[in-house]
Amino acid sequence: MAILDVRNLTLRFGGLTAINNLSFAIEDNSITALIGPNGAGKTSAFNCLTGFYKANEGEILFCGKNLMRKRPFKITESGMARTFQNLRLFKNKTVLENVMSGMHCRCSAGIISSILRLPAQRAEEKKTREFSEECLEFVGILDQKDRLAQNLPYGDQRRLEWARALATQPKLLLLDEPGAGLNYDEKKELIDLIKRIRRELGITILLIEHDMGLVMNVSEKIIVIDYGQMIAEGTADEIKNNPRVIEAYLGKDEEEAV
Ligand SMILES: Nc1ncnc2c1ncn2[C@@H]1O[C@H](COP(=O)(O)OP(=O)(O)O)[C@@H](O)[C@H]1O
Ligand SMILES: [Mg+2]
Repeated sequence: MAILDVRNLTLRFGGLTAINNLSFAIEDNSITALIGPNGAGKTSAFNCLTGFYKANEGEILFCGKNLMRKRPFKITESGMARTFQNLRLFKNKTVLENVMSGMHCRCSAGIISSILRLPAQRAEEKKTREFSEECLEFVGILDQKDRLAQNLPYGDQRRLEWARALATQPKLLLLDEPGAGLNYDEKKELIDLIKRIRRELGITILLIEHDMGLVMNVSEKIIVIDYGQMIAEGTADEIKNNPRVIEAYLGKDEEEAV
């Protein structure tokens, strides 16, 4: 069954068509990679899915519900979480506070009980803290929970972003270039983590990634886009020798070399 079904998605910026009639489906409990040359529209696609950009046309069906024109927090609430190509952490807050902030969408205590700090609110805060700690443990940085986010080494800041996304209890996790800036060992750990997120938490994963080794290692299916359009879809072996894929990448290299 498809957890996400994107149909004929189009996004324009003035005269530029960033996403052009794009359709694809993501199977429940799968790991899929979205790849393509720089400027292909990958991040824009994530931005449409998560409500940061409003697509001009198309449909986004998530767990059978249409997400078009839903606001970002509503989309998070419905079970879609993301991480960013460039880290977006609260640098002056602690690691634990960063993760707890990700959980607000799952809190039920109302504003009045929050202000009065009623028992229900205190119980909920405790639950939030404990679950946030579990998320930190899952990504391997629980021992850093009281440090300020800005004082973590880069690799751990990335882990913190993953923990914060997991804290929203997503059904689908979108990772935008999770391997960017990581060294060889950190990438190996990332591969393990992605597989564990799916296996142990049952979360479906869609990732944008440039490191082809990483892509081929974790994903069962790869979707290739160029100029906002899908040009190929299949397993690593199926797309590796696809002439349109090779041309998309080589063509861009030549342009960039000029
Ligand atoms: N907010 C924006 N305003 C105008 N153009 C944008 C904006 N965001 C992305 N674009 C353009 O849309 C195209 C796709 O960009 P993007 O989705 O970031 O590509 P990718 O993530 O695949 O590298 C690019 O031409 C980019 O310049
Ligand atoms: Mg991008």
